Amino acid sequence: MNQPIILSSQIRDVVLGKNVKLVQPVNLYECKIGDNCFVGPFVEIQSNVVVGDRTRVQSHSFICDGVNIGNDCFVGHGVMFVNDLFSNGGPAGDRNAWKTTTIGNNVSIGSNVTMLPVTVCDGAVIGAGAVVTKDIKIKGVYAGNPAKLIRRL
Ligand SMILES: CC(C)(COP(=O)(O)OP(=O)(O)OC[C@H]1O[C@@H](n2cnc3c(N)ncnc32)[C@H](O)[C@@H]1OP(=O)(O)O)[C@@H](O)C(=O)NCCC(=O)NCCS
Repeated sequence: MNQPIILSSQIRDVVLGKNVKLVQPVNLYECKIGDNCFVGPFVEIQSNVVVGDRTRVQSHSFICDGVNIGNDCFVGHGVMFVNDLFSNGGPAGDRNAWKTTTIGNNVSIGSNVTMLPVTVCDGAVIGAGAVVTKDIKIKGVYAGNPAKLIRRL
């Protein structure tokens, strides 16, 4: 039998705030997690991500390079952030082509949301299963694919 190359999940070069709870296994590297955050199991948080204070990241979420999440946010289970839009027909070999995402404070992101590279204003709520393709500028509840405002808050 051929032997696979086995890599382990890791917590490497992470700037951790006070009182952070992590549930293993997680794969976190070269990112910053604020005070009193919670990160559930099977979460990957990549380089250059900043997670603000008191934010919760539930299990099975993927937060890619270049995402900035504010304070007091809730990132539901299985939320997938995207930084590479395959603009040239497939995965970009060049990380300079990756785009960034900024999530404000007090934002709630429901289970199984896909977040394309966007900016989301403070206090927005994004329903389960939404695909967010455009900036969210008005505080409200958004749902669907593509995500649309269903009511203002
Ligand atoms: C989007 C959400 C916040 C809306 O809640 P709400 O404001 O109480 O809205 P309602 O339940 O009254 O639904 C309003 C309309 O939106 C639709 N809708 C609700 N949630 C939706 C969703 N996630 N995706 C698509 N449509 C949705 C409803 O079917 C309803 O449509 P209708 O007017 O045609 O009947 C909520 O349904 C949701 O998805 N919450 C996320 C919860 C979550 O993921 N938690 C994670 C931890 S368990």
